[in-house]
Amino acid sequence: MSEIKDKVIIITGASSGLGEATARRLAKGGAKLMLAARREDKLKKLVADLEKDGAQAAYQVTDVTDRKQVEALAQATKDKFGRIDVLVNNAGLMPLAPLDAVKVDEWETMVDVNIKGVLYSLAAVLPTMREQKAGHVLNLSTVAGHKVMAGGAVYCATKFAVKALSEGLRMESNGEIRVTNISPGAVDTELTDHISHEGAAEQASELYKDAIDADAIARAIEFAIEQPGNVDVNEMIIRPTSQEL
Ligand SMILES: NC(=O)c1ccc[n+]([C@@H]2O[C@H](COP(=O)([O-])OP(=O)(O)OC[C@H]3O[C@@H](n4cnc5c(N)ncnc54)[C@H](OP(=O)(O)O)[C@@H]3O)[C@@H](O)[C@H]2O)c1
Repeated sequence: MSEIKDKVIIITGASSGLGEATARRLAKGGAKLMLAARREDKLKKLVADLEKDGAQAAYQVTDVTDRKQVEALAQATKDKFGRIDVLVNNAGLMPLAPLDAVKVDEWETMVDVNIKGVLYSLAAVLPTMREQKAGHVLNLSTVAGHKVMAGGAVYCATKFAVKALSEGLRMESNGEIRVTNISPGAVDTELTDHISHEGAAEQASELYKDAIDADAIARAIEFAIEQPGNVDVNEMIIRPTSQEL
């Protein structure tokens, strides 16, 4: 039996990009999916698509910056499927800009979504995983969570935080919780659409000219989940072959 079949998997940020591609791939493996994001129209359409192909999927509109909504997401998952096996902690954004642009509102949004959203999601599932004495948390960091890039200091800071959190959780897992830190390079999604700084947008379009398909990351996530329970894939870096950074 596939190690993915019948696993109950929450994916945050499932309305586009990596989250959507991951949902499509894991559905084929027979997972039971709870998909979360803010855009209900996208989630509704995705669930309808997956169900048409015989998958078990549901959605819950969730803003990960609202702790109560994230707790409701975990509860809805347990009400629907009875347990929580995997959290793909994926919701995030990347409004790149140099520090001198002083885009404090964007800094706050990145901290709220990329750090606090990741923590709220972990907080919502960890007690259940402890009760089950099993669970798997996959956090989306980035290559920019390993190496700082000029013009993206705040984004990098949030993703260094994600990497630190992954390692801390791994060390505290007591053999019960698997932890995978996923670090993609340039992937073709909506991520760069929200860059408001002109220079940073130009820099990003150069970096993203050879961006790879979101399914490349979905395949990596699938690989980590489908390993036997005593095998924890801790760290994956997936870049376009041509990417230097
Ligand atoms: N694409 C890349 O090159 C790349 C590289 C490295 C790492 N990553 C990481 O991969 C993750 C997914 O990004 P992506 O590339 O797939 O970009 P994307 O297409 O823009 O997807 C981002 C997802 O996050 C959700 N989201 C944003 N704010 C949210 C909030 N407050 N509450 C709930 N959901 C929220 C969005 O849904 P709604 O707008 O519907 O809420 C969307 O589904 C991010 O953490 C990103 O940092 C991406």
